[in-house]
Amino acid sequence: MSREQVNLLASSNNKINGCIRVPGDKSISHRAIIISSIAKGKTQINQYLDSADINATIDVCRRIGAEIVRNNESLIITGNNLERIQKEDTELNFGNSGTSMRLMMGVLSAQIFSSILYGDESLSQRPMNRVSKPLINMNANIKTSNGTPPIFISPIDDIKNVDHKIHIASAQIKSAIILAGLYGRDPFTITTPKSRDHTEIMLNEFGCNITLESDSINVIPSKLTSPNTIDIPGDISSAAFFIVGSIISKDSQVKIANVGLNPLRTGFIDILKMMGASIEISDLRKVNGEVVGTIDVESSKLKGIAIEKDLIVRSIDELPLIILAASQAVGKTSIRNAEELRFKESDRISSMVEMMKRFNISINEFDDGMEVYGGIIEGNTINSFGDHRVAMTALLASLVSREDIIVQDTVNIDTSFPDFINIANNIGMDIKVYD
Ligand code: S3P
Repeated sequence: MSREQVNLLASSNNKINGCIRVPGDKSISHRAIIISSIAKGKTQINQYLDSADINATIDVCRRIGAEIVRNNESLIITGNNLERIQKEDTELNFGNSGTSMRLMMGVLSAQIFSSILYGDESLSQRPMNRVSKPLINMNANIKTSNGTPPIFISPIDDIKNVDHKIHIASAQIKSAIILAGLYGRDPFTITTPKSRDHTEIMLNEFGCNITLESDSINVIPSKLTSPNTIDIPGDISSAAFFIVGSIISKDSQVKIANVGLNPLRTGFIDILKMMGASIEISDLRKVNGEVVGTIDVESSKLKGIAIEKDLIVRSIDELPLIILAASQAVGKTSIRNAEELRFKESDRISSMVEMMKRFNISINEFDDGMEVYGGIIEGNTINSFGDHRVAMTALLASLVSREDIIVQDTVNIDTSFPDFINIANNIGMDIKVYD
């Protein structure tokens, strides 16, 4: 059986208890690998995420001349010091990884070889004009296929830095611009609403001069020098599954140590606390510029709330889990201003509405979100819609479902969290392959 056909069965009504660690942060792993690959010197990256999406980034970074060696739990990367190397024209497969493709569009725009960037069915439908347009304003020679992959990049003489105004709060767009801009000469400013700032933090670790004002980022291009070692914190977006799982199920308690707690990623913790969840954070410290700490969480009674606009960007990847939490809260939860959910690995508004309906939860769909009413989840067979976060959220629902849950098409879990089933089963869930 090919992995695409693997269906999983999660037995209903368990509790979870334990002390866990989650694998390295996906967003930070991408940045650490890309930036080490274009920096001067050798970087050891510890606790990186070993997943399909990260492998896509590693493969492409090798094409731009980085030497990348796996050594147990670490990667050792010798970078190319921003050299624009001559290579054969090259076709690059990004699999399911939007972050790899969008960030590497910035780097590849500045190279002196042509590249064709393509991906799987889900990635082939995702919007890329939002990245190609600002790069074209920087003199990049990029063509998309009606705004989506495949993307064709041809060599240029020079990247020309200009100031940008970007209306979408997207870390991938601003990161592509910043990475391309490192190959240009002039300082530039990006004015854009706040979104996760891992690229800015990581580049400053490599000696770059990036300063932040309220809504703008000022970049002075410079050479990058390896800080020798980067330690990647655990992925808060992976931890989120067990945080929500512990909150919604009875008699559950989970401790997660060494998790990234960048304030631009912790919106879902603020939302859950507003809904009444018991979540404690301790042992806060900074590692390579990123806030890291320990999270303690336990079963809690939740109430429905209206989620403020400001919290949406800071919780965008965890909104499927917030929808599951809302299905277990008393009353109505409304999530609006979340149209960006339609452009993820699946259209997460329609996938989650479909999932909740199949679970017999009342839910109303809007263009920019939904309202969810608390209820009882019935078991059912759910399709992942090719989306790892949808697949894992559906499996987690078994903690509170009346019957077992079967999730179809689950290979995509490997894109971000290959250890999900092991960790879940170790702390009390019961997920197995279902023929
Ligand atoms: C990411 C940025 C976000 C997020 C994605 C990872 C990143 O996407 O949803 O999972 O690592 O830069 P957008 O930039 O499209 O908001």
